[in-house]
Formats: sequence, structure tokens, C-alpha cells
Amino acid sequence: MNSQSGPDRRSVTKWLAAGCALAAGAALAACTAPSAAAGRPGRTTATAGSAPPAPSGGAPRVGTPVGGAATATGAATETTEGTEGTEGTVNPAADSGPTAANTPAARPAGLTPSSDSPVHALKRQFSLTDPNSPWVLVNKHHPLHPAKYEPADLVSATVPAGSGGGAALLRAEAANALARMVAAAATAGAGITVLSSYRSYGTQVSLYNGYVAGTGVADADTKSARPGYSEHQTGLAFDIGDSGGACAFDPCFADQPAAAWAAANAHGYGFLIRYQLGRARVTGYLAEPWHLRYVGVELAADLVARRFTTFEEYLGLPAAPDYA
Ligand code: DAL
Ligand code: ZN
Repeated sequence: MNSQSGPDRRSVTKWLAAGCALAAGAALAACTAPSAAAGRPGRTTATAGSAPPAPSGGAPRVGTPVGGAATATGAATETTEGTEGTEGTVNPAADSGPTAANTPAARPAGLTPSSDSPVHALKRQFSLTDPNSPWVLVNKHHPLHPAKYEPADLVSATVPAGSGGGAALLRAEAANALARMVAAAATAGAGITVLSSYRSYGTQVSLYNGYVAGTGVADADTKSARPGYSEHQTGLAFDIGDSGGACAFDPCFADQPAAAWAAANAHGYGFLIRYQLGRARVTGYLAEPWHLRYVGVELAADLVARRFTTFEEYLGLPAAPDYA
């Protein structure tokens, strides 16, 4: 049982510094930090199923964020990626109601998509601020509220673990989608493993501090979210690896079969490749072709069909390159 499998990391050194135990030579590591969700009653296991159709792709579109920071070429420091109020209607099924522990103490003032965002055309609308919403926006300008939010419906998805062991712990809807995606990828000949999934606030403290200890705050902030600012804490995000084991948490992962398959197909299962190459001036992070974020099929498919590459731009919201 391991609810908080390996971190986003670029090197063994950084991960060890983060206070986690690395499986020798493996892509996967198991944090020593206790699991916030461990032993939670009602946890179930998601199972694989059939694949939905995926919309057609095309050349990526570079949107214009309200913040005006995005460019067609991306951040100058990210050329090689060698280092790396009024809310929408919330789906009752996805937003089952916050527990006492999860009730936002101070929900931020209304955050809504810009009036010209294509998101308004989608049939179902969700909150961008409720941490239980599949559309919750988490970036350097928008931390989770409450900061120590814990999802109430974490389950272990039925997917192959990385070589270090560990469960793929995600919110139920995301776990089911992941299981279906991994099964479809395997059928297509691409072996996807899950290297890191839900991470508690405490785990992110250890991870982020490890990065800071290794290379300093400025570098850490390009690769690891500060505690309370990580999508992993939502239970909707995870990091994938290739079953061949190559290039885990490394820029060369983009060339592995698992990454190529995910880049072409993940949206059909409701996932975004959240931190794409050359988009750090919008997302705040260097490319992470391994980091997938569940938003639901309707949004993910529309975002890709319209050739957006970031959630922020699709929503017509400001870029978040730095902490506010
Ligand atoms: N590596 C991503 C940004 C995280 O720490 O959530
Ligand atoms: Zn990640």
C-alpha cells in the first residue's frame, strides 16, 4: 500500500533529498511520508474497460492568455527542456460535497473562465475553485483551498505499477479513466506505468524541500510545485512512465512509446498533458510529458480539438509563470 508513489523528479539525488526511498535503478520510488488516505474506508479498485473514440488532432494552437505571457516559441529558458464568485454549475456526482475537513476555510473570490473561452459551450460546467471539482484550476496563482485538502474518494486504479511498486491512487473518476486508458494503450502496444499519483500536502512538503535543498528555490520552482499548489494533491493528476523503463521523469521520456501514445490519445480519456514543451511562461513549469491531469473527456477533447496546449489559455485565464 502506497498512496503517494514517486515524485516528479529529474534525478536520483533530488529524490533522495526529498526524503523518499528510491528503488534501485528504478523509475519508481516510495515516499516515506505517511499516507494521508491510507486505510480510508470505502477505497475500491478501478478496473479497465473499453476505449472511447478520440477526436482528431492537428497542429498545436498557441492561445493568448489574458496575462499576455504566452508566445509561440515559449520561454527562452525552455528551449531544450534538458532540465527541466461566480462559479459554474458543479456536477453533483463529481462534487459530492466537502467533508468537514475539506470545507474551504476561505474560498477565493470567484474565478470564472473568460467570456470568450470555448469552455462555455460545453454541456456541463464545473467550478474552477472547488477542490472537489474536476475542473479545479491549480497553478502558481491558484493554490488549493484549503491548502491541506484531501480528496474523499481516492481509489487504487488497476494499472501496472512501476518497478518500485506502489498503487496508482486517484479520485475514483480519474482512476477509472486511467485504467481504461492504460488498457487501450497496452492493446495498441504502448506500455504505460504510473510512477506517481495522489500526493498529500505533507508529501509535497518533503518533495519540494528536496528540490530546494538540491538546486535552490528558483530551479525547484520550475519543476516542483510548492505545497498546496500541486495538482497531485487533487487526486486528479499522475505521472506516467514507459513499461520499458527508459527516461523516467526525464525530458527524453517524450520520445518513449508511452509518451507518444499518451500525447496522441490521453484526451480521449479525459486527460490533459498539463505541462507541455515551451509553455512554461503560461504553466510555470518546464515540460513534463509524463504529467497527466484529469478534467473529463468533454473538456480535454475540446481543448485538443481546438489546438490549445494549456488549461489556462483554454479557460482564457492569466498565465501563471510565477507565484503571485
Ligand atoms: N511537478 C509538478 C509541477 C508538481 O509538483 O505538481
Ligand atoms: Zn506530476
